[in-house]
Amino acid sequence: METALVTGAARGIGRGIVERLAGDGYRVIALDRLDIVHELSAIAETIMADVQDRAGIAAIMERFAPLDVIVNNAGITSTRRFEDLTEQDFRDNFDVNTLGTFIVAQEGARRMRNGGRIVNIASRSFAGAPQMAHYVASKAAVVGLTRAMAIDLSPRDIRVNAVAPGVVDTDMLHYMTPERQAAMLGWQLLGRIGQPEDIARAVAFLASKDNRYITGQVLIVDGGRSLGQGQLPPEPSPYN
Ligand SMILES: NC(=O)c1ccc[n+]([C@@H]2O[C@H](COP(=O)([O-])OP(=O)(O)OC[C@H]3O[C@@H](n4cnc5c(N)ncnc54)[C@H](O)[C@@H]3O)[C@@H](O)[C@H]2O)c1
Repeated sequence: METALVTGAARGIGRGIVERLAGDGYRVIALDRLDIVHELSAIAETIMADVQDRAGIAAIMERFAPLDVIVNNAGITSTRRFEDLTEQDFRDNFDVNTLGTFIVAQEGARRMRNGGRIVNIASRSFAGAPQMAHYVASKAAVVGLTRAMAIDLSPRDIRVNAVAPGVVDTDMLHYMTPERQAAMLGWQLLGRIGQPEDIARAVAFLASKDNRYITGQVLIVDGGRSLGQGQLPPEPSPYN
């Protein structure tokens, strides 16, 4: 049985990933800074920890080594006009989203079997999103980190990829104003907001042994939103 560690596991996308990987037969370590992570104790080993705490993360990795899969999902966000963003906003987002991913990935890679897989949860917004420059920059950094890790860990056949979700139905979405949520729904080509399970399916593939030859890639899972097109009413073509 392979061992998979998932961060930010207590709710939302992370919880969906834990449920999926447990169903796929992994021994799952579900890590979060919230104590509600223990609700998952029937299907996973649950640990309360902060991804920014290197010593704590190292001790957890030591306890569960050797690892086969790491999913770096813990993340935070907020929205603010660019003119009002503070350095603290930037630090907060980079500390969790980027540095937290680096810490967990590094401590994990040190204790990972050759042939392991790492999946970093970025965001479709790495390509740009309104009023969240600090978040966008932190997720673009996760994409860069993913590509660099894929190179550096390739001699050990560790495949490192990112999944970049579009808008997903979690608390991270619900904190936004109803107007912003409605506008985001209008962007979805497939006509609905994503569910955590939609993201978990993509993660499950990249994390699996079936992913033998994909590394350093960013898989955008956004219901087609990044195609940048809506539908137009049908009309007869003037050309023929
Ligand atoms: N929901 C979306 O629309 C969306 C879109 C794109 C990307 N994402 C990304 O997906 C990931 C999960 O987001 P979500 O929507 O499920 O959010 P969420 O807020 O519902 O869940 C995030 C989880 O991460 C945990 N967490 C936060 N900081 C932590 C820390 N320092 N240490 C340990 N755990 C920590 C939280 O406690 C929470 O359980 C994030 O990286 C987020 O940026 C979400």
